[in-house]
Amino acid sequence: METLHAVHEVRERIAAWRRQGLIVGFVPTMGNLHQGHLSLVQLAGERADRVIVSIFVNPMQFGPQEDFDRYPRTLERDCQALAQGGAQLVFAPDAAEIYPAGMNQGAVVDVPSLAGVLEGQLRPGHFPGVATVVTKLFNIVTPDLAVFGRKDYQQLLLVQRLVRDLCLPIEIIPGSTVREPDGLALSSRNQYLSAGERRRASALHDTLVAARRRIIGGERQWLEIEASALGELRSAGFDPDYFTIRSARNLQPPEPGDAELVLLVAARLGRTRLIDNVSVELE
Ligand code: PAJ
Repeated sequence: METLHAVHEVRERIAAWRRQGLIVGFVPTMGNLHQGHLSLVQLAGERADRVIVSIFVNPMQFGPQEDFDRYPRTLERDCQALAQGGAQLVFAPDAAEIYPAGMNQGAVVDVPSLAGVLEGQLRPGHFPGVATVVTKLFNIVTPDLAVFGRKDYQQLLLVQRLVRDLCLPIEIIPGSTVREPDGLALSSRNQYLSAGERRRASALHDTLVAARRRIIGGERQWLEIEASALGELRSAGFDPDYFTIRSARNLQPPEPGDAELVLLVAARLGRTRLIDNVSVELE
């Protein structure tokens, strides 16, 4: 496995693969890799001949009060894990390589229908930052397919919409959420939790599962289900930003006839903000 830092080197490698007729799979990440990321690499490997993983903590998607500076950077360990995990190439650029003219007043990719709700409403600028960097990475790597986790469900939908709207010839493949035995979704941010917070953190997934059970049991009073979920989260010590039941298609409130719903939650435990979601199919 090779690690490259420059755009022009990545382009050369990928061009050589293309001349050999190889299918290229891509997994964009911000590094500090865990089994969730590695499961996406494995999925890409099942569908592609070569897998490239990018590791780039993208400054454009972090708000001024967010954790850009303290976001864990563990490139050496990540590369070891990726070599074992089946990747052939790592692209680890610095910010000047991705934003050669700086981030101010440059081209921005926006998907307003999805960037304005939930995470987008609470983190202004986050999804334009994600959509812009993902478009740049797609244009550098020119993959046949790219894998994104369901863990960040709104991001997954946004990337699917972006690819469709901008006619990018890339297949987006969703990867399932990998969880700890107690249900907590793996996340680089879990390591910010104290031991006591970590013990309480499983309540996030428990609450999602309990609400899903009520829906499967036939309940359709969304507001009532959301209100009790918010109560459960508060009793578990969380400070919730939202717990909401939405259409899995567009993240709008469910309409009669919507067959697939998604339950999404964002909540703070101490200083750490966690997000999670589960899907539910209606009969
Ligand atoms: P990052 O948070 O590093 O996540 C990279 C990919 O791993 C995303 O597709 C995310 O959904 C997926 N992922 C994270 N936790 C997971 C888990 N527990 N199970 C399965 N997949 C999981 O998401 C980003 O980086 C950035 O926004 C990025 C797309 C790289 C753009 O900067």
